[in-house]
Amino acid sequence: MPINFHDARNRMTYTTRTADESWRSFMRETVDVRNKRIADIGCGGGIYTKALIEMGAAHVIGVDFSSEMLKGAASTCKDMQDVSFLQGNAYETKLPANMTDIVLERGLIHHLDDLDACFKEACRILKPGGDFIIQDRTPEDCLLPGSKHNIRGHFPEKFPRLIDFEIARRHHSDQVSQTLERNGLRLSKAFTLWETRCIYTDFDELENELLNRSGRSILHELTDTELRELIEYIKEKLDSGQEPIIEKDAWTVWAAVKA
Ligand SMILES: C[S@@+](CC[C@H](N)C(=O)[O-])C[C@H]1O[C@@H](n2cnc3c(N)ncnc32)[C@H](O)[C@@H]1O
Repeated sequence: MPINFHDARNRMTYTTRTADESWRSFMRETVDVRNKRIADIGCGGGIYTKALIEMGAAHVIGVDFSSEMLKGAASTCKDMQDVSFLQGNAYETKLPANMTDIVLERGLIHHLDDLDACFKEACRILKPGGDFIIQDRTPEDCLLPGSKHNIRGHFPEKFPRLIDFEIARRHHSDQVSQTLERNGLRLSKAFTLWETRCIYTDFDELENELLNRSGRSILHELTDTELRELIEYIKEKLDSGQEPIIEKDAWTVWAAVKA
C-alpha cells in the first residue's frame, strides 16, 4: 500500500537523518543560499529546511500538503530561527508571487502526476532570475545495481515487482527539462548527485532504519514478511560484520532559473 503522508504514524518518517556534507557542498556549488529567501516545497520532516538555515539562508519556509509532516518538520527545526511552515499544495502553495529567491523541491516530483502545474507554481512564486532546484530520481537512477553503498539498488533485485512500481512513478530527465522550459524556467544544468544518505555504525542500525521504513516510501509496498526477507538479503550482500556502512543514493538534480 502506498505511503500515506497524512497518517500520524508517519509523522517522523522524514526526520530521522541530517543533511550530509555531500548535499551541502553540491548546493554550495550550484546556488548561493546565503541571505536568500527560500521555499522548501514538499519539505517533509524539515531535514533540508534546517540545513538551508544552517547554510546561511535569510529565511526558509517549509511547505507541505500534510499537517503531520509539518509537525515533524517543526520538531526538526525547533531550535532554529528564520524558519516558518505553511500547509500548502505544490500545485497551489498560497505563497505570494515573485517573492522567493530560491525554490527547492527535493524528493517531491515522483509523488506528482502534473509536473506542468507544479513547475508553473514554482515559477509564479520565484523572483525573476530566481533559482529552482529539483532533486529526484529518474528511472535510470532507480535501476542502478545494488552495491555496498547503493543499498537501495538491492531492493528491486530481491523484489523485481518494485522495478515496475519505480518506473511508473519516476519522471524521465528529458520530461523534467522540457516541462521546465515550457513553464518559463531555463535549465542551466542537470547532473547526477551521489548523496551520502546516512553512515550507520553497524548493520543493526541500518536494519532498524529499514524495519521502520524511515524515509523510504518504497518500503511501504512490501509486507512486513517481505521486508524481513529483504533485510536478510541485504545483510548477506553487504557482509559488513561490525563495519560502518556508508549509504549513498543516486539522484538527478535539475537547476533552472526563472527567465
Ligand atoms: C519523499 S518526501 C521528501 C521530504 C523532504 N523534501 C526530504 O527530501 O527529506 C515527499 C514530501 O512531499 C510531500 N508532498 C507530496 N505531494 C505533495 C503535494 N502535492 N504538495 C505538497 N507536498 C506534497 C509529502 O507530504 C512528503 O512530505
